[in-house]
Amino acid sequence: MALIALAADKGSPGVTTAAVALSAVWPRRVLLAEADPAGGDLVYRSAAAHGGPLDPNTGMLSIAATARRGLAPDQLWDHVQPLSGGLEVLVGLGISEQAAGLAGLWPTLGHAFSSLADSPHAAADVIADCGRISGDTPAVELFPHASLVLLISRTEPEALARVRDRAAALAGKLHGGPRGAATLANPVIGVVLIADTGTAGKLASQVNDMLVHAQTGARVVGTIADDPAGADQLAGRRRGRLDKSLLIRSARKVAADLYQQYGAVWAASAQANQAHQAQQAQHVQHQHPGPMQGHAGAGT
Ligand SMILES: Nc1ncnc2c1ncn2[C@@H]1O[C@H](COP(=O)(O)OP(=O)(O)OP(=O)(O)O)[C@@H](O)[C@H]1O
Ligand SMILES: [Mg+2]
Repeated sequence: MALIALAADKGSPGVTTAAVALSAVWPRRVLLAEADPAGGDLVYRSAAAHGGPLDPNTGMLSIAATARRGLAPDQLWDHVQPLSGGLEVLVGLGISEQAAGLAGLWPTLGHAFSSLADSPHAAADVIADCGRISGDTPAVELFPHASLVLLISRTEPEALARVRDRAAALAGKLHGGPRGAATLANPVIGVVLIADTGTAGKLASQVNDMLVHAQTGARVVGTIADDPAGADQLAGRRRGRLDKSLLIRSARKVAADLYQQYGAVWAASAQANQAHQAQQAQHVQHQHPGPMQGHAGAGT
């Protein structure tokens, strides 16, 4: 299991919608983290499981206040709120000024998010909404900890040009240079297009060719339906059968495809990490067998 970081460039809105939709249909336990430094949206869009509003102070803000003393992955659960419908979320910051409270903590967060998959008590994948990436947004410090960085892109020519350049730049930063064999490099950089369902397949293959040709180290991993009605339903602005919407159906396919492709690798790495942790715990017990025994050993 894994950290999946979602982000987009200017001109490609839809990150939060995609993050919520993917989390809602994710095949394993998942924690949705609103890690957008510009602020979260869920407090305005979703009700808490108890029927009232979400508490804006419990989530990234409460983590910012406590994580300087360290952040064990399982401690993330202390800051989680369930939405009505059951999705577990780390509510984002209120306004971008509050992001100062997270300064220096992004790598700690990245480590906790990615290690939650290895928790022996309450393991979960983390889907992180990192918002807009431009310049030096600090949320990119999560990316080296991710298994998968998903760049959301609209399909207008300028949006495609931007995602191509962004993917290449990220590959340079994260993989040490653009690669042809993108699937071998970690984290995998995937592009998710928001497209009309009628043309999505054809567009995906054209954009994928463009990404490969430009040696970006990224490839198209799926398409999410351009579905304003579904997006409004998901944001609580409109009523209707959400599970039948094009948006949710397309998100279900993206999640299933990702899991089919990477699920086994993620599960194996979580197992290996759990075994390693157990071994280390045993080793520590061996090295420090307790004050009395330690004393007796030193005297002989
Ligand atoms: N798949 C989609 N199909 C149609 N409309 C969408 C889709 N995803 C998002 N939208 C619409 O685009 C707007 C922005 O969506 P969203 O909040 O998900 O974007 P964002 O990238 O998170 O933006 P922000 O930078 O404000 O956080 C909303 O009006 C939303 O309804
Ligand atoms: Mg958003």
